[in-house]
Order: sequence, then C-alpha cells, then structure tokens
Amino acid sequence: MITAALTLDPAVRIAPVGRRLFGSFVEHMGRCVYSGIYEPGHPAADDRGFRGDVLELVRELGVGVVRYPGGNFVSGYRWEDGVGPPAERPTRLDLAWRQIEPNAFGLGEFMAWTRAARVEPMLAVNLGTRGIQEACDLIEYANHPGGTYLADLRARHGDPDPYGIRLWCLGNEVDGHWQIGHKTAVEYGRLANETAKAMRAVDPGVELVLCGSSGATMPTFGAWEATVLELAYDAVDHISLHSYYEENADLASFLATPVAMDRFIADVVATADHVRAKLRRQKRITLSFDEWNVWNMSRFPGRAEADWEHAPVLIEDTYTAADAVAVGGYLITLLRNADRVAVACQAQLVNVIAPIRTDRGGAAWRQTIFHPFALTARHARGEVLRVEPAGPTVDTVAHGEVPVLDAVATHDPESGAVALFAMNRHTTEPVTLTADLRALGPVTVTGAHILADPDPHAVNDRAHPDRVRPRALDLPAPDGGRLTAVLPPVSWSVITLHAGEPA
Ligand code: AHR
Repeated sequence: MITAALTLDPAVRIAPVGRRLFGSFVEHMGRCVYSGIYEPGHPAADDRGFRGDVLELVRELGVGVVRYPGGNFVSGYRWEDGVGPPAERPTRLDLAWRQIEPNAFGLGEFMAWTRAARVEPMLAVNLGTRGIQEACDLIEYANHPGGTYLADLRARHGDPDPYGIRLWCLGNEVDGHWQIGHKTAVEYGRLANETAKAMRAVDPGVELVLCGSSGATMPTFGAWEATVLELAYDAVDHISLHSYYEENADLASFLATPVAMDRFIADVVATADHVRAKLRRQKRITLSFDEWNVWNMSRFPGRAEADWEHAPVLIEDTYTAADAVAVGGYLITLLRNADRVAVACQAQLVNVIAPIRTDRGGAAWRQTIFHPFALTARHARGEVLRVEPAGPTVDTVAHGEVPVLDAVATHDPESGAVALFAMNRHTTEPVTLTADLRALGPVTVTGAHILADPDPHAVNDRAHPDRVRPRALDLPAPDGGRLTAVLPPVSWSVITLHAGEPA
C-alpha cells in the first residue's frame, strides 16, 4: 500500500491566491474566435454575436484574465483593421496560420466580450512586423481618456470611456524561428525596452510582459532570458513562459510534467534574480506563464502547405481523463509558485486546445480539462499554503524520479474556507493520503471531488459530454485532527473544509 502524508498549517503561507492565476487565452486562430466565442446567427448568440452558451461556460470555468489576440497571430496583425464600422474593415491574409481574417471581431468586440464574461483583458502588441509607433497608437486608442485623434476615434467607434487595459505583452515568442519578425535576443531586448518606455509614457499605469523563451527546450533558453532582461529590466514587470505537454504513449512521464513545469519556473526565477543581482536592482521580475496546457503537438501536421481558410478546424485536441489529471497538476504547480507567478493563462479558451468545445451552429460542451480548472478557480481562495507532502517517488523516463503524490492547499482566513488539491500520478496504485489538520483548529469537511476514470483515455465528446466529470470522493470524517483519503491511480482531487466552529 502506498501512503503519503502532509500537514496543513495556516501559518505556513506562500502568497495570496490571485485571480490572474486562472487566466486563459483567445487567439485569432482556428475556431477560437469565429464559431467559438463569436458566431452571429447562432441560436444562442446575442445581438453582438457573442455565444451565450459559451459565455456561461466561461463564467463557470472561473477565468480571471484573458490574453488576446495572439499568439503567433499577433506578430502580423494590424490592430486598426479590427476597429470601426464592421462593413469597412479589410479582409486580410493571416500569415501565422494561413487563415483568411475578416476582422469582423476586433478590439472593441473583445472589450465588450470581456465585460460580458467578467474577465480582465490582457493585450499583446505586434513586435513582429510592427514597432514602437503602432504599440503607442494602440495604447493611446485603448487607454487615453480623450482629446486626441486616437482617443476620440475610439469614442466615435462607440466607446467614449477608456478601456483601461492594464496588462500588455510586448510581442509573442520572438525567439521562435516560426515567428513572423523573429529576432535575436539583443534585437528584441532593445526593441522591447524602447517600446515599453514609450508605452509607459502614454499610460504610466500599465504592467508589461517581456517575451521569455517560447519553451524550456529552445536552444537559447536561459541565455535569451538573461539577455532580454538585462536590456529591458527597468521597463518591464513580468517575463513570459510558454509550455505545452503531451502524453506521447508514456503516461508515467506525462503525469510527471507538472514537475517539469515547476523546474521551468525555478529556472526562469533563478535567471531573473541573477540579472537583478548583476544590475543591483531592488525590483523583482514576476512571471507571466501566459501559455500552458496539454497539446498533442506531435499529431499537428503544421500549416505550411494548407489552403487559405477562414476559421479552419485547427488543433482541436480532444482531451482524456489523464489530460485532466495533468491539468490539475499544472494548477497545483502554479499555485505553489504563486509568490513568483503573477499571471498564468491556459491556452486556449475555446476549440483550439481548449477546455470548451463548440459545434458551428450547434452545442457547446466541457472537455475533461474544464473540470480541474473550474474546481481550482472556484475553491482556491485566500492564501496558498505550503504543504510539503512526504511519500514515495516514481521513476519516469522523461523527468527522472518524481513524487507519487503532489499537493497544495489554500486557506481563506476571512471565511475559514480551506481547499486541499492533490494528484496521484501513480499509473496503477492508489495512494492513502493522511492530512494533519490540527493547526487549523476544529474543521468540517464541506466537499470532496475526484477526477479519475477506470480508462485514463476516456474522453468527453458531443455524444458523451459528461463521460469524464468530477465525482464525489468518499471520505471518513477527520479523526483526531487527521483526515484520510484514498486517491485512485491517475487521479486529481479537491477536498474542501471549513476551519473554525461550525456556523
Ligand atoms: O497557442 C497556440 C500557439 O502556440 C500560439 O499561437 C503560439 O504563441 C504558441 O506557439
């Protein structure tokens, strides 16, 4: 029998739980926008073309912030094409994904959609084919109150009040050879620094994200971060991380990928702090993990030879129960690093490697990975607690030895709400977990949900949209301040408690 133990102590805190940890990403890619969040004429669409069924799911998912409009798309995008009277907007080629972009959906529509979805906007500027002037024009159009050509243009387009967009990305994956306008670290670091200074001159209230590497396996990873941070340290707030993971017929290694994510975060923190020491600065750079998810990339043929299409079916991965467990694991990792990860966006929101799937003109449903995100966003409140699970390890081909059980907890001192998130990454054996709750005082269990399936490759699809969903986890009442839970193999769970005298 495999056992693991941990202690919940409200005094051992990591950082407050920020809503920006539960971010998502809407790119003009495939069917994320068109027939995803936006589909005029759909029976559930409102008069702006926003699909109400999708909006409801987005609210249920508990998303805090949404990054837009890309992704690779942004590196060839002219933001001006997407504003003003829709009938006058140009149709363009999108070189990133070989798409036809009609520009029916643009900045004004996105801002209206964020208000309807109750999420914070996060905007990326094009530092691929464009530069400082276009970034300044965009921020002036978006955030300047009025009395200038661009601010008044926004008002003429129907939005007299400034959008007040606070979070901005300085380009996207500029280290990647696939990126339109790909640059060396020195070229990008200087451009990002000058763009950031100019954007701050337009609006000093913004927070700026510098592009880190597009993945920890990039040959320039580490050196890229060090160089761009040295060139732009004072002008930016966050540095970006992107990472996608896939099972690739090795379930044990796949379930270890949250550990790989943890190591990636540690490496970027170390690099940022090295630059801080070298430059003798007080300020610490925080992390924007603004693309993360499961993506079966090895099955994606690429778009180089594809025909030009509008809203093609693109990387619409169908997720398994094991994928959902891995996503629960990434959320545990992100919470545990909440002292340095300020923003995290699951990529993407609808259809394109997404928790929500839609049929054009038809239904919308929850993929398996919807559930750990929604449960974590709902129950993680207050402060993240360090829980340090003790238990056995398992050896994996891709990531070496990793703990069988991973866990993190949150505690809200105001309401007394406690949540314990746990992942059993063993592929065949259950784990009996004992949680020492004595430091919390009197506790009551208020709920327990588990995501697991006898078939780790079970999926949700339009015919069986609820095949994989959270189920009740049977728990004995805590005994002497100790809670015991049996967690099946390949599972992710959340146990919620109330600390304090019962109300
Ligand atoms: O999310 C899909 C793509 O992955 C994004 O456009 C790009 O930034 C990343 O490589």
